[in-house]
Formats: sequence, C-alpha cells, structure tokens
Amino acid sequence: MPRTNRVAKSWANSPASGLDLYLELTRAGPAGGGLRTRIEEALREAIRSGRLGLGDRLPASRALARDLGVSRGTVLQAYDQLIAEGWLEGRPGSATLVCFDSAGHPPRHPMREPPPLRWRFDFRPGRPDASSFPRRAWLRAARRAIAAAPNDAFSIGDPQGQLALRVELSGYLSRARGLASAPDRLVVTSGFIQGLGLVARCLPTARGTVAMEEPCLPLHRAVVRATGHEVVPVAVDGDGMRVSQLRGRDDIGLVVLTPNRQHPTGTVLSPHRRAELVQWARGSGALVLEDDYDGEFRYDRHPLGALQTLDPGVVIYAGTVSKTLAPGVRLGWLVVPEGLLAAVLAQKAHADWQSGALDQLAFTELLRSGAYDRHVRRMRLSYRRRRDLLIQALAAARPDLAVTGADAGLDLLIPLPSPGLEAAALAAARAAGIGLDGLAAGSYYERGGPAGLLVGYGATLEATFSRATTALAAALAASSGTE
Ligand SMILES: Cc1ncc(COP(=O)(O)O)c(C=O)c1O
Repeated sequence: MPRTNRVAKSWANSPASGLDLYLELTRAGPAGGGLRTRIEEALREAIRSGRLGLGDRLPASRALARDLGVSRGTVLQAYDQLIAEGWLEGRPGSATLVCFDSAGHPPRHPMREPPPLRWRFDFRPGRPDASSFPRRAWLRAARRAIAAAPNDAFSIGDPQGQLALRVELSGYLSRARGLASAPDRLVVTSGFIQGLGLVARCLPTARGTVAMEEPCLPLHRAVVRATGHEVVPVAVDGDGMRVSQLRGRDDIGLVVLTPNRQHPTGTVLSPHRRAELVQWARGSGALVLEDDYDGEFRYDRHPLGALQTLDPGVVIYAGTVSKTLAPGVRLGWLVVPEGLLAAVLAQKAHADWQSGALDQLAFTELLRSGAYDRHVRRMRLSYRRRRDLLIQALAAARPDLAVTGADAGLDLLIPLPSPGLEAAALAAARAAGIGLDGLAAGSYYERGGPAGLLVGYGATLEATFSRATTALAAALAASSGTE
C-alpha cells in the first residue's frame, strides 16, 4: 500500500487498554478497503518495521476500538484476520500478542533481561547486602515525602539537586563524616561514576592528565579516559597513594583517590601523606577528588575525617548510597569548591539535567527521619559479624594466608605470591559455586602487579554466612599447593 496514502494517526491510549499503541491508518484507496483492512495493514506495517516485536501485547479490542472511534467488532475482525495469517496470537480471555518477527529476533517477552548469574555463595568484593535494602523504611519515606511534596517537586528541577535534600545531606555529612559542606556547595549526582565524569569534563585541556591509584577499579579509569583525558597511575603502598610521584607533574589537573579505604587494597592514606597531597595540590593548582565510597563502615578503628576537611578549596568530596543502601538506587553527591561549581553544574545539566526527583524526595525523608542513620548502624554491626566469621574460618582453613584491609569496608584482601595461585584459588571457588575476585583477574593493576584474592562479605546473607564461609574455606584449602 503506498505510503503517501497515510493520513489518519491514532494513539490507542485509553486507560482501559493499559497500553499505548501508535497506529498509522491509511486512507481508503480507490479500490476501497474498509476500516478493518486499514487497521490490519497498520498493524502489519508496525510488525514489519519492528515497532511491534515478538511477544509484544496489543491493546484490548474494546480499548483500541474506542481510541480509533470504530466498533469493537471491526477491531476483533482485524485481530482475527492477523491471527489467521500468523502475525498475532490470541486466546479467549488472554492478551493478544505479536508472534511474528521479520528480523528473526528472539522474543522480547518474557525474556527481555538475561537471568542474573547466580552463585551458590557470593563473596565478590564491594557488594552490599541487597536483601537488607530497607524496603519498609524507604516505602514509608517515599509515601510521606511524595504525599507532602509541592507540585513543583515533580516538574523540571534544579540540576544541583533539591534544596531540601542538600540541606539534609549537609547536616548528615558534617555530623557523620566531619565535613564542611554548605548546601550550596553540594551537587546531587546519580552516583560516584557520574560525579567522576562530571569533574573530569571540567578540566582544562592544558591540565588534562588525571592521576589515579594503581591499583584501582578499571571502570573508573575507563570513565576518565572516555572524557578524553590521559590517566597516569600512581603507586600505592602501606600508607596509601605515593604522593611523591606527583611532584614535578604540572600536566596533572586532577588526582582521584580513595583515601579513607584504598580500593581494593584497603590501606588508609596516612596523615603525613594527606598533608603532603593537599600541599602539592595547592602549589600546583590541581584538584583532588576524594572517593569516600564506603566511609560509613569502620569496625576496628576510629572513622577518619574526610580529606576534604584539610582544604575544601582543592578537595572535591564524593559520596554515594551504593554501599549504604544499594548500588541500584543511583544516588550520590559531590561537595564542590566554589570556583568549580558553575562548571560542574553545566556538566550535570548536559549529562541528565537533574537526578530523579522521586528518589531525591524519598532519600531526603529517610535522612530527615533518622531512618538512614539507623540503617547504616544496623548494617555496620551486621557486616562486622560477617567479617569476624570470615576471618575465623579463613584462619582455621588456611593459617598460612594473611588477611589485610579487614578493619573497614565490605571486603578484605588475601595477598598471594603469584597470579598462578590466585587463578587456582579462583578456579576452586568457581567449581564450588563461589563468586570471588582477584587482583590480577580483575585487572586492578593496569601495568601488572601483585596477586591476591578479594573476598567480599557484604552480599552473602547473614543467615547462610556460616555455611558460606565453610564452603569458601574448603575451596581455599583444596586449592592450597595447586598452581
Ligand atoms: C572504589 C569505588 N568507588 C565508588 C563506588 C560507587 O560508585 P557508584 O556510586 O557509581 O555506584 C564503588 C562501587 O560501588 C567503588 O568500588
């Protein structure tokens, strides 16, 4: 049918159908062609062009008829014809589905998402306990906040984030992390990854090199490189980043680091190195981005004040709910020096204009009501118990192995003498259905470095933790001596 004949368009969007469907109805041609034929052809065209894919549900016939202004019988006849031709599938009392895919794609429903990879026991590092997400507290906070919010809260908002959230966050950060963070310096982000990209995009080309810890999360290096900047690795030792390696590098515009618990080694940037870093940044005109990804979880040592407190003029602070609540929430924040604020806000506006209003409302209420603090305190105790069990089990099964970085965070490191031993341990764990990671396997060192197992204790449920540690210890015992 010639395309030029198309005139009528309709969105089948009645509330009763529950579905939106855009159809282009052709004008009746010289050879006739009633409404039924035109509906059939519009549906065939939508399927041929891929707008409707295998498994997609069509609106109920009554609803589509109402939207198109035709009788229900006409729509039923069109559906029946397409069922007879093999385009659609329908059974009395159930939805009519598309069952033809001209491009040979796999069905879109019900398998849109691949099933998640499941481990019998999940000891992968950096993962919090998703089953402990405070559903009830979040629902309560969301219900209360959404009911009370002014209409404007759902409209186009402020790229910097809702003021009420920035006020609550500012109070929380100064109370819990000792931070200088006025609400007008806070920028709400959709997590650290976004904050990293926003800050990197603000660097002038002449100072475009970014110094990052070696080792660090490979994804973070990739995010920086995707902004067009070069990454220079800076070694880490028992005192954290070796700041002396920055001296003389006036091409470096930004230093990204995890001073409060180096990821993945678990070391802490010593007071001496903190002072040295801030002094270097002041002198060279570079900025420092402090990734405080799990600063809330300290067990055997006092929480460290944030690096940012040493000089809020050169240190940008970044926080996230990814460890405290869940990584799927996608909420984080930056505390930005005054001189950088306009540039960061411009980048945030370009990225996504603003973080989601509903999550901001709920999180504000979670903070305001004290439920967030209660949840963090509860999780701190729970993670501490898991860590203790894990350390005991490891010590019993493999007394020859040292454990480091266990005084904080959600994971610990077992240094190993060679990548071969690391690979053997990972293989033994995998064979037992246990998820783990390794320094070499995870490419944490870009230029090659020591081997070691990264064992997370956040994701394995407390109820099964004892069985899980027994299985892990057995796998590691089995791998001892194998290379
Ligand atoms: C070192 C480090 N920084 C930050 C984060 C948090 O990133 P995001 O807030 O984008 O989830 C993670 C991962 O959870 C991490 O491992």
